[in-house]
Amino acid sequence: MALEIVPRVYWVGAIDWTMRDFHGYRTEAGSTYNAYLILDDKITLIDTVKKGFVPEMLARIRKIVDPEKITYIVSNHVEMDHSGGLAEVVSQVKPEKIFCSPQGKAGLARHFKADWPLVEVKTGSQLSLGHYNLVFLETPMLHWPDSMMTYLKEEQLLFSSDGFGAHLASSARFDDQLPHHPPGYWYELKKYYANILMPMGSLVTKLLKQVVEMGLTFKIIAPDHGLIYRKDPGAIIEAYRRWAAGETEAKALVIYDTMWNSTEMLAQAFTQGMVDAGVEVQLHHLRRTHYSDIVAELLEAGLFLLGSPTLNNGIFPSVGEFLTYLKGLRPKNKAAGAFGSYGWSGQAVGLITEELKAMGLTLAHEGFRVKYIPDPEELDQARALGEKLAREHLRR
Ligand code: FEO
Repeated sequence: MALEIVPRVYWVGAIDWTMRDFHGYRTEAGSTYNAYLILDDKITLIDTVKKGFVPEMLARIRKIVDPEKITYIVSNHVEMDHSGGLAEVVSQVKPEKIFCSPQGKAGLARHFKADWPLVEVKTGSQLSLGHYNLVFLETPMLHWPDSMMTYLKEEQLLFSSDGFGAHLASSARFDDQLPHHPPGYWYELKKYYANILMPMGSLVTKLLKQVVEMGLTFKIIAPDHGLIYRKDPGAIIEAYRRWAAGETEAKALVIYDTMWNSTEMLAQAFTQGMVDAGVEVQLHHLRRTHYSDIVAELLEAGLFLLGSPTLNNGIFPSVGEFLTYLKGLRPKNKAAGAFGSYGWSGQAVGLITEELKAMGLTLAHEGFRVKYIPDPEELDQARALGEKLAREHLRR
């Protein structure tokens, strides 16, 4: 059923319980596609849902009002998890106007090639619905060029599109309804930021400054994925401030893949050294932990080491895949280094080191290589190096 958030404003979205892959991002807990309905003189739908979920959304709307009575649609974001159902909704609702950003207009035109009543809005544009008033806020590249947010002035409610979202299917709709799993929810929030928004940290910082300048305050933040924040919206804003600024903790990750366990022996020795230094450390095998979970853990880590055996004169495939993914996320404020074993040519460590440098990361060391199987002395060197790097880069 639909759920009233504040008087005459309802959640009417859909829950995707079984989705496990969101364009490569592993979503162990599914997701939601949140859409919102405002009952006013001009009945307005904020965002729609992914294709295939429109009947679920329309069924919720019908519990409140005949969908054909909807006058306006606001499309905050073109990406298909929010606009995939738009064509079906438009054909049923026949809205008077569809509000979107200028880039949204161009994006919707390219996707749907339809003659829709699209109306451009810009930052600061206002729209009266009768009792309620909306203010629009363009958020280009957070995380598509068309992205925008919509603010319901009278309730200080921000419809934040992808911002502040999390991939989590749940029967709870609000942040104060998950008493049994709050740490898990914060992990999903962090994972979402790391995988979707990490490259745009400077734009997040700019947006947070802009909302202060515009005098916008938030009692409720209603994103398009996950829970609605009404208990403590300031907590998620503060988390975004820290993540966008690239603030890190005394935490290290050792990430690796291995062929015949030699690189794994080194990974374990480095990990032990970091444990000995007294920092938080995690060890991740790249074919056992999904890369989207590794980058979630990496977000607040100040140091990581990446290990690869040399295969066919190059980097092991899973390590190369991880590097490609990480490069696109533009991590910052981290020290990093490479290690690995080899049989005869041993190029992987050097190639990874070059990639880490190209990402603008602080090079923690020049690379640590071992031929075939590490002996006890080499393992002790790796342990000692792990301890030294943790002390140098994390113990401030
Ligand atoms: Fe949730 Fe950028 O779509």
